[in-house]
Amino acid sequence: MAETSRKSVVLGVTGGIAAYKAAELTRELARNGIEVQVVMTEAARGLVAPATFQALSGKPVYTDLWDARAADNMAHIELSRGKDAIVVAPATADFIAKLAQGLADDLLSTLCLARECPLIVAPAMNRQMWDNPATRRNIERLLRDGVAILGPASGDQACGEVGMGRMLEARDIAEAVTAFLAPKSLRGARVLITAGPTFETIDAVRGITNRSSGKMGYAVARAALEAGARVTLISGPTSLAAPAGAQRVDVVSARDMFEAVKKRVADADIFVSVAAVSDYHVASPQRQKIKRSARRLRLDLLPNPDILAWVAARPRPPFCVGFAAETENLRKHAEAKRRAKKVPLLAANLAQQAIGADDNELTLFDDAGAHKLPRASKQVVARQLVAHIAKLFKEASSKR
Ligand code: C5P
Repeated sequence: MAETSRKSVVLGVTGGIAAYKAAELTRELARNGIEVQVVMTEAARGLVAPATFQALSGKPVYTDLWDARAADNMAHIELSRGKDAIVVAPATADFIAKLAQGLADDLLSTLCLARECPLIVAPAMNRQMWDNPATRRNIERLLRDGVAILGPASGDQACGEVGMGRMLEARDIAEAVTAFLAPKSLRGARVLITAGPTFETIDAVRGITNRSSGKMGYAVARAALEAGARVTLISGPTSLAAPAGAQRVDVVSARDMFEAVKKRVADADIFVSVAAVSDYHVASPQRQKIKRSARRLRLDLLPNPDILAWVAARPRPPFCVGFAAETENLRKHAEAKRRAKKVPLLAANLAQQAIGADDNELTLFDDAGAHKLPRASKQVVARQLVAHIAKLFKEASSKR
């Protein structure tokens, strides 16, 4: 199994009202397996207590340039050594101006100037400050210097106004930072993913569907994007937001999904079929709502195409990955399914533990045997699955 080494960042918190969101950001980054060293400016300490960040990151918080706890009293050099990035969130207009000028009059600005790693900045300020030509100039300067700018977003502001300048939500910043740091094991690969349930119409208001939430497929899409892939996500009806950067195609029935896949499969290097596709559709769906009556009602069902098996049987198929949700005898059914569908990799889980849940436990079946991915959040499991797909895809590509 491909292991990814633990990433670590300095999280710089400056004195904007959005500093409270940095606490949530610390948690989200930690949840994504990223080690966080928090550095606060003096002004930020007036907004959120350092103890909050210390508790969430598990590390002492630094503010002072000459903090004696740092090795050789050199906090301004030591704290960013070996880090994968410095993330400043929130970054006030004042701090952005300092970065643009290369000023270094406190620990955080000095760390930014003395760094060897990439710098990621999430601005947060009042809309007039954001629109001011001075800020515009400073942001352009930072972009030219190779600094990554995340946001800001438009929306309600602490001052009561509405406009551009609001810091992105912690979850979005964490997602972008995680993607930035992820190994680019699928760089440039075109990945087609199906996700979610399908819905087969019975009449104007009813249908046959299943309890798939789409969470696993969306997590795979996000992990593939993080790994540098170009992702098309063909999704059945879900309430989830598509991961930023994915091209999303919404479908309803299994046959819609099949058509959407057929249209795009020739341009795919990898096909990951996570969708819980309905095995049957209703032979003659009714236009009007079926009325209740005392008589027996029979639904005539016809089989749906097996999308994955069809893709895998193409003359030059993409690298195909199937999913199998079983209720018992996982290994036996999964191995039989892998052979029947002729796919090189099949990810199997127990339906009762996986469907709709936030966590999952997968067993991967390939030519080398079975590999267990221990229970974790679907996003963590998806990253491990993508790492495994990237490894097998690379091996398969070198044999072609
Ligand atoms: O045979 P079963 O439905 O359990 O197979 C599951 C795998 O096949 C999943 O990867 C699923 O997305 C795919 N599948 C499909 N088209 C179908 C049924 C399943 O692509 N009609």
